[in-house]
Amino acid sequence: MNSNYEVHEHDVLIIGAGGAGLRAAIEALAQGVRVGVVCKSLLGKAHTVMAEGGIAASMANVDTSDDWRAHFRDTMRGGKFLNNWRMAQLHAQEAPERVRELEQWGALFDRTDNGDILQRAFGGHTYKRLCHVGDRTGLEMIRTLQDRGVHLGIDVYMECTITRLLQDGDRIAGAFGYWREQGRFVVFRAKSVIICTGGIGKAWKITSNSWEYTGDGMALAYDAGAELMDMEFVQFHPTGMVWPPGVQGILVTEAVRGEGGVLRNKNGERFMERYDPKKLELSTRDVVARSIYTEVREGRGTEHGGAFLDISHKPADYVKRKLPSMYHQFLELADVDITKGPMEVGPTCHYMMGGIHVDAETAQTSIPGLFAAGEAAVGLHGANRLGGNSLSDLLVFGRRAGLAAADYAKGNALPQIDSSQIEEAAQQMLAPFERPDGDSPYVIHDDLQSVMQSLVGIFRDEPDLRRALSELDALKARAARVRVEGSRLFNPGWHLAWDLRSMLTVAEAVTRSAAARRESRGAHSRIDYPALDDAWGKKHNVVVKKAGTMTLVETPVLEMPDGLKQLLAEDSGTK
Ligand code: FUM
Repeated sequence: MNSNYEVHEHDVLIIGAGGAGLRAAIEALAQGVRVGVVCKSLLGKAHTVMAEGGIAASMANVDTSDDWRAHFRDTMRGGKFLNNWRMAQLHAQEAPERVRELEQWGALFDRTDNGDILQRAFGGHTYKRLCHVGDRTGLEMIRTLQDRGVHLGIDVYMECTITRLLQDGDRIAGAFGYWREQGRFVVFRAKSVIICTGGIGKAWKITSNSWEYTGDGMALAYDAGAELMDMEFVQFHPTGMVWPPGVQGILVTEAVRGEGGVLRNKNGERFMERYDPKKLELSTRDVVARSIYTEVREGRGTEHGGAFLDISHKPADYVKRKLPSMYHQFLELADVDITKGPMEVGPTCHYMMGGIHVDAETAQTSIPGLFAAGEAAVGLHGANRLGGNSLSDLLVFGRRAGLAAADYAKGNALPQIDSSQIEEAAQQMLAPFERPDGDSPYVIHDDLQSVMQSLVGIFRDEPDLRRALSELDALKARAARVRVEGSRLFNPGWHLAWDLRSMLTVAEAVTRSAAARRESRGAHSRIDYPALDDAWGKKHNVVVKKAGTMTLVETPVLEMPDGLKQLLAEDSGTK
């Protein structure tokens, strides 16, 4: 391969350094291969930290009746049975071991009186199942994985954005990208690549996601020919901050409800009594988000368009101990003391259930040598994810992806890269500087967020989705002519011009899939098709690129073995 650019060579290249990427790196290193991790941001700055309330694993430290079967059942029920059953089974069976391993690597947890890892309640989980440290569990997990990975010797390339996967025929051969600071191009050669780039929240206006989450990995995989599946299922976390405007969307952890927080409307009514009288605030996220949205739409919302979430009936020192980040977040950002009064909260785009289609055992995509794990991959969560299942997902499937990608690398030689692919990728990146006129990337991004927020949100219907598709077409045309000023030296406008392309790809995939699914299931709520439809319960929407065009096909849900079907038929709370 001839390249005019800086080149790095690894056996396994991991794109993304959140929980899944780091766990995959640790596992691949343990297999004795050379591992490189590329991340768009600084190491440790990942959406993983936004899973604040805990890691779901049936340790049975608090509720001794819990076991993997109950966790499997809750996950499948929460996902409205669209989950890949094998992933749900592996996840439930392996999560406790992954948590114990994390503990051995130095992760701190809150403790029971016996010294075991303490577990708290979360929506949709039958038992107290979330292992946690206050409301900073994701942060502690990242800290631990990062320490371990760096100690083992992973090569980390920070502040580097990957813009294209490189291929040798069908097979993966590496990746092309640029250093965000200087704008210089860089080529990574690798025998296998794992995508762990997280979600797509920045395509919406109100989101808990930070600037990195623009659907890069899903778009890279799609462009390389991989399948995206279940893209209609976007999770709106019920509780983000709503006021003041500058902090709108920032996550208010479900742990507030797990610790006894109560939701009320402006009339003081505990409205969850009407929507889910049994589980109340600990109903699944899709139900609680829709309930808050409905209260606001029907005129019972708070002054700033949310609901009240109150934990002030608990002793102040308890609140500060169990929810230290929430205490400081509200005091410093909203001037609200949550030990004395309620928070104002509303739904925020938080997580993507859909993503890159992978094999349950190995996390391999349909492209030889390309793997995916974590939020970028689809399967475990079905139509709706239970809180806390993302952290255990990262650990279970990050490890499996690292193992399989290392095995693949050991069994295959370094592929060839045709340098015309690299030149084409470079030209594509430089094009926005060369246009005499065109829209600013900021304006297009703002318009994209408005379209997705207002037309592809919590509640959807045919006219809105059709309108969104035509708006997205117009936005794609504008993005193809986007113009950037200045040089390649740290230029956020140029970075956004690229990110827009990924966001538009995933936004279109979400909207096409949402328009196709004419039923309501989990996080996908169609006003015009409000009921579950058995026929739709048997199929997934899959998006693939065919002759340069986004094409939607249906694929059947995997048939579950009888033993597991029987488990699902059993009542919650029984083994
Ligand atoms: O509410 C939370 O702490 C978020 C957890 C999660 O998304 O898993």
